[in-house]
Amino acid sequence: MSVYSIIVCGAGTMGSGIAQVSAMHGHQTTLFDPFPGAIEKARRNIEGGLQGLVDKGKMSHPDARQTLQNLTFTDQLEALMPADLVIEAIVEQLPAKIQLFASLDSIRKPSTIWASNTSSLSINALQHALPGPERIAGMHFFNPAVLMRLVEVVSGQLTDPSVLDTLRDLTLQWKKIPVLCKDAPGFIVNRVARAYYLEALHILEEGSCTMESIDHIAEASGFKMGPFRLMDLIGNDINLAVSQSLYEASGFAPRFQPSSIQLAKVQAGELGRKTAKGYYTYS
Ligand SMILES: NC(=O)c1ccc[n+]([C@@H]2O[C@H](COP(=O)([O-])OP(=O)(O)OC[C@H]3O[C@@H](n4cnc5c(N)ncnc54)[C@H](O)[C@@H]3O)[C@@H](O)[C@H]2O)c1
Repeated sequence: MSVYSIIVCGAGTMGSGIAQVSAMHGHQTTLFDPFPGAIEKARRNIEGGLQGLVDKGKMSHPDARQTLQNLTFTDQLEALMPADLVIEAIVEQLPAKIQLFASLDSIRKPSTIWASNTSSLSINALQHALPGPERIAGMHFFNPAVLMRLVEVVSGQLTDPSVLDTLRDLTLQWKKIPVLCKDAPGFIVNRVARAYYLEALHILEEGSCTMESIDHIAEASGFKMGPFRLMDLIGNDINLAVSQSLYEASGFAPRFQPSSIQLAKVQAGELGRKTAKGYYTYS
């Protein structure tokens, strides 16, 4: 099946990047977020991102203009029209994701695919709670979505294989690398990466090293970003939600237990780059 029209729900860090990628590859893309200010911020970020590509000579003016023409921004659920694919990138909470998809049921065509960008929540749980489970899958992008090439295409128990084929082909069309995996807590990358964040937080809790030193050592040993810098990029609320979800899904395995430092950061509203303050301060 070829995908022409795409709705992206959630205009935050991930949703705005995914919508930009989709529009850059010629899809009629609608970015939806009902929260005040979110859509305007996303529009500014996308316009700034496209201008940056033009300035670096990586995109022509006409292509940037066409990309913006492919995009529609809305904060009104009622304004959404049926689409071939819906990608949700809203808060990392299962009830919210279920509620969102349920509210889109009236514009679901028999062929519409619903894909979740969840980092850690169960695709099977979404399928059990929603109509059309055979057309539900995971499509897990990485941050920043415009640059990162890996996409985990996640199969739930009831996902029709043709849906996975469509998402894999779309990922390739977007010049990204699809990795097919079955639904499992944290899929592949977030499960492997948990140790990177949580061990760094344990070291900090023990007081044996500063976070700057931990980041410095990680980066000097070849990691692109140290764990604290990376958590700030991801968002400390998202990172805590992913830790919590893996902890619960693993039957409370101690190795996945969230750190009290993560909780304190979220309670203080220090969510990372998106709030200009997290482990570090950003201007
Ligand atoms: N941040 C990352 O590095 C990263 C990477 C991969 C996947 N993800 C996943 O992507 C999803 C979004 O993460 P994010 O970092 O973009 O979060 P974010 O906090 O930056 O953005 C979330 C957006 O969703 C909007 N939103 C909340 N409820 C909504 C609803 N019911 N309908 C429409 N919009 C709604 C909010 O207004 C906000 O703009 C999460 O599931 C997360 O696990 C995040």
